[in-house]
Amino acid sequence: MLTLGIITSDTASSAQLAAAAQQTGLAESIREWVIPGATAPDAAEMVPDVVLLDLTLDAERLFAFGAQLRRIRPATKLIAVSATSPPTQSLLLDAMRSGVQEFLSKPVETSDLKAMLSRFAEELITSGRPLLNKLIVVMGSKGGVGATTVAVNLGVQLSVYAKKRVALLDFARPLGNVHLLLDLHPQFGVRDAMDSLERLDAHFLDRLLISHSTHLRVLAGTTQPEQWQAIRVDALERIVNVANATSDIVIVDMGSQFGTEWASLLKMARMILIIAEANVPSLWTLQRRLTALKGFGIESERARIVLNRWHQDDDGVLKGIQKDFNQPVFARLPNDFRKANSSINLGTPLLENGRSNGLSARYRQIAAQIAGVDPGPAAKKSGWGGLFSFSTKR
Ligand SMILES: Nc1ncnc2c1ncn2[C@@H]1O[C@H](COP(=O)(O)OP(=O)(O)OP(=O)(O)O)[C@@H](O)[C@H]1O
Ligand SMILES: [Mg+2]
Repeated sequence: MLTLGIITSDTASSAQLAAAAQQTGLAESIREWVIPGATAPDAAEMVPDVVLLDLTLDAERLFAFGAQLRRIRPATKLIAVSATSPPTQSLLLDAMRSGVQEFLSKPVETSDLKAMLSRFAEELITSGRPLLNKLIVVMGSKGGVGATTVAVNLGVQLSVYAKKRVALLDFARPLGNVHLLLDLHPQFGVRDAMDSLERLDAHFLDRLLISHSTHLRVLAGTTQPEQWQAIRVDALERIVNVANATSDIVIVDMGSQFGTEWASLLKMARMILIIAEANVPSLWTLQRRLTALKGFGIESERARIVLNRWHQDDDGVLKGIQKDFNQPVFARLPNDFRKANSSINLGTPLLENGRSNGLSARYRQIAAQIAGVDPGPAAKKSGWGGLFSFSTKR
C-alpha cells in the first residue's frame, strides 16, 4: 500500500482522481493540497509516497508545490496528470525541472494508474513495507451449502468479538440475500456501486453500505436477477479496493458461481473459504473448485475447506477428504438445523455465548483465528483441536 497525495486547483477534478486511486486498491491514504492557499508540511514523514499533480491552467504553481514536497522528501514520486496528451515540450520541461517521473493523461484510466502505482509499491516492498491483504472470499462448492450463513456469521463475529471494522459485500448471483439474514432493509446495493463506479470513493461507498447493530457494514446484493446484466464481474474488484480503504476486513459472499471472470478478484484474496457438505455431490464440486483455483495460480494455502452441517457420523469421510484432496480441512461447523434456521428466519445472527462446541462458538473460533486474537475461555475449553485438528500446519 502507498500513501498518496493530490495537488490540485480544481476539487471536482481531484475527486475523480481520488476515486480512481482508491479503486486501484493500492492507496492506504489520500491527502489533498488545494492551490493556491495550501502549505507544505515541515516533516518528511508527512509527505506521501506518491503525489499526483492534477494539472490545470495554473500548472506552474502546481509544479512548484510538487518540487517543494520533493525537497522535503526526495524519495517521493511525482505523477503529472494532464488533459494535454501528449504533453507539449514546455510542459515536459517544467515537469522535468520539478522532478516529475511519470505522465498520465486525463481522464485517468484506473488500470493505467494501478500499473504505475504497482511498480512504485513493489519498490517499497523491496524496501521492506508489506502489502496489506484484507479480503476473505466465501464461496459455496454448490448452491445451498451455507455460504451466506458462514459469510454473515463470520462477519458478525469479526465485528463484535474481534472488534474489527468489517464490510460484507454481497456479490451472490442471481440474488443476494445477506440483508435478509440480518433483517436489514437496504436502500442501495452493488448495482448502485457499479452504476457510479467513476465517482466511487470511500466516502461514496460508505453511503451505499447499510450498518447492522453489530456494526457489520453490508453492501446489499441484487434484488432482481436482471440487475446482473449491468454488473461487470471484472469491475467488482474496484469496489473491493474501495471497501479495503475503510475496513480492517472485507468479506465477499460470491455464492456458488464460478468462472474465469472471477480470477482477478479471487487472486486478491487473503483466504478463499469454500463451503461444502460431507456428501458426494458437494465434495465432487469442491474437488473441481480446488483444481480450478490452482489453475488460476492461487496457492492451496489460500483455498480453505470448510465443512458445514457436520455430524459426528461423518468422521470417516473427513479422513477420506484429507487424503483425496491432499489438503487439510480448515474448519467443521456442526449441523444445527434448529439454530441455523431460526436465526435465518428471524434475521438475527448467531451470537449467544452458549455451549463451547455450539455453532456460534465455532464461528467465534474461526473469527479469532482469522483476526489473530485470543479465542477466549469458551473456545479454549472446547480445545482448538475440535475445530482445527486437521489444520495444524496453518
Ligand atoms: N450449520 C448448519 N446447520 C444446519 N443448517 C444450516 C447450517 N448452516 C446453514 N444451514 C441452512 O442451510 C440453508 C442454506 O443456507 P445458505 O442460504 O447460507 O446457503 P448458500 O450456500 O448461501 O445458498 P445459495 O446457494 O442459495 O446462496 C439454510 O436454510 C440454513 O439455515
Ligand atoms: Mg447464499
